[in-house]
Amino acid sequence: MNDFEHDFPDFQATPFHEHGDERPSNRSDNPNFYQVMDAHVQRRAFLMGGMATIAAGLFGGAVLSPRAALAQSTGLLGFVPVPLSKEDNVVVPEGYKVQVLAPWGTPIRSDAPAYAPGAMTGAAQAMQVGSHHDGMHFFGIDGSSTDGLLVMNHEYVEPRFIHAVKWAGQALDGDTVLFDANGMRDTDEVLAEINGHGCSVLRVQAGVDGSWGIVDDARNRRITGLTPMSISGPAAGSAHMVTRYSPEGTATRGTLNNCAHGVTPWNTYMTAEENWAGYFVNTSGEMPREQDRYGLSDETSRYGWDKAASQADEYLRFNAAPTEASAAEDYRNEPNTFGWMVEFDPFNPDAVPVKRTALGRFAHEGIVFAPVVAGQPVVCYSGDDSRFEYIYKFVSAAAYEPGATDGSILDDGMLYTARFSADGTGEWLALAPGQNGLTPENGFADLADILVNTRAAADMAGATKMDRPEWGTVDPTTGDVYFTLTNNNRRTMLQVDEVNPRAVNNFGQIVRWRYDNVDHAAISFAWDLFVIAGTAQQSATFNGIALGDDNIFACPDGIWCDPDGRLWIQTDMGDISPTQSGPLEPFGMNAMLAADPATGEIRRFLTGPWGQEITGVVTTPDGTTMFVNVQHPGGHASADQFAAGDYGSAFPDGPGTPPRSATLVITRDDGGVIGA
Ligand code: FEO
Ligand code: CA
Ligand code: CA
Repeated sequence: MNDFEHDFPDFQATPFHEHGDERPSNRSDNPNFYQVMDAHVQRRAFLMGGMATIAAGLFGGAVLSPRAALAQSTGLLGFVPVPLSKEDNVVVPEGYKVQVLAPWGTPIRSDAPAYAPGAMTGAAQAMQVGSHHDGMHFFGIDGSSTDGLLVMNHEYVEPRFIHAVKWAGQALDGDTVLFDANGMRDTDEVLAEINGHGCSVLRVQAGVDGSWGIVDDARNRRITGLTPMSISGPAAGSAHMVTRYSPEGTATRGTLNNCAHGVTPWNTYMTAEENWAGYFVNTSGEMPREQDRYGLSDETSRYGWDKAASQADEYLRFNAAPTEASAAEDYRNEPNTFGWMVEFDPFNPDAVPVKRTALGRFAHEGIVFAPVVAGQPVVCYSGDDSRFEYIYKFVSAAAYEPGATDGSILDDGMLYTARFSADGTGEWLALAPGQNGLTPENGFADLADILVNTRAAADMAGATKMDRPEWGTVDPTTGDVYFTLTNNNRRTMLQVDEVNPRAVNNFGQIVRWRYDNVDHAAISFAWDLFVIAGTAQQSATFNGIALGDDNIFACPDGIWCDPDGRLWIQTDMGDISPTQSGPLEPFGMNAMLAADPATGEIRRFLTGPWGQEITGVVTTPDGTTMFVNVQHPGGHASADQFAAGDYGSAFPDGPGTPPRSATLVITRDDGGVIGA
């Protein structure tokens, strides 16, 4: 029996997270984060660079106790925490109010079709806000805090809600209702689902009464799974990118599974392609590395879009089985045009989105840029959200020039992957020809080959396998980088020892790192765990303080450090239900918390309705209005509930209506800064 079992004999190490996940596909022998952590703890090593508080304190049995002292407040957090909730609504602290803005199906312009509950068409969806809101940014027009472009991602869709009228009364069993007797899909249903993905650009304004609305603007725009896009960077034009659609290998159609986002130093938006692999199938019986290592199925695609009855090119492309003599005649390389970070300028409605291949190809959760310095390279970070995958960093070759730099700077530079060492240091491993074993002899022909096969390259380089890296953020007041590691139910006790409590990691943790002289381009760094999430008995902040009633949480996903340095943490425990049982039962509905990076103080700020996750967070430049997304309300509802006309959640339109993802607009009664 190890220490963890001794302290928590009743802990249920139940594999729990099945939501939105991917086929684990990392079969390399690289050490995982817990093997590293174990060695780290055994050595009781104190960290470099002032990050000395993790070692003995965090993992000693005594600190994993609900009796631990409360974190000292510095006054950064000024609100009264909200309690755990099992209610089907949104709860915010006293003195705050919430408005629902831009739910799925909202017309993006006054000439767009009205929302028809449960009867979405392909044409309507192309002119309405997409589904499953996720990462988001507010671009104030000329710095305004009452008038701007709200840009958001739409990660995926829920066909039973899109087609609820047509499917009413049917006992839906998984996705089997999708297909007709011939195994085909209704083409317009497929089109509506494709158009539910991507991004929305919405001009939003605050009225005199303080309530926000969408206003007509030529920049209001939908980007979908069909929008033409260009491909740039080292993989553009390579043999990997040659498709029937673009024999030159420089273009593709659409972006999919847009999870989190990034904002560039030159004020454009980037959207991440996360679990894109699930949208494709390869039924040929032979799957190349650039598909297999990303978890493509050889049986079915997520929504069966390749089975659209029309069998038009834009649907057939989701089956990557070679059927013709060359890649320029079939769809074998279509999946290679997904898995990238995609940039567009929200202020230019005609801008063709660009897939920036130098940033690597994986299940990009999002991207976060380090603060830029004139004359220094641009640095950004991105996590690969899959079990046992890696964290990456890109350092541009050219220097940042204010006013002159644009997205093309992201087409040339060095991609690195992270190795976390046991002594609290870490190292960035270059993914470039001739470095870290990336040679033709080892199967990496050139830079394009490395980038298309980023996961395989990181395997070769020896990166540290992580517990599903999600969002990252950089504290603008210190330069410290934070990444959420949401959970991992596939580790085994063989991979932990007496001091490592997370063989089956149901609750997740947040890692942070920093550099000497805040030099984000540096190769080495120092790291610690900012917080290990969980119940009071199973959690601790970096300074050894257990969480309690006001702040227990599990499965950190979204994270954003606001300009004052408040760290906002959002949870995704999956399609959490009001009758939840198992390890996640103590945590109520998915929530958002705020933390003080200096002290580890954490307070619960918001709880959401049934079935949803809280994701996406940004404020207006003055900090007085916050936008937060509610994704997949009702996602927990069973097939039987649906057949009985019960959608699982009444958010936001009330009982008997299909639930809709939506944006929350949060303000204070006194007009003050959110969280202060
Ligand atoms: Fe789309 Fe990893 O959350
Ligand atoms: Ca996420
Ligand atoms: Ca999520």
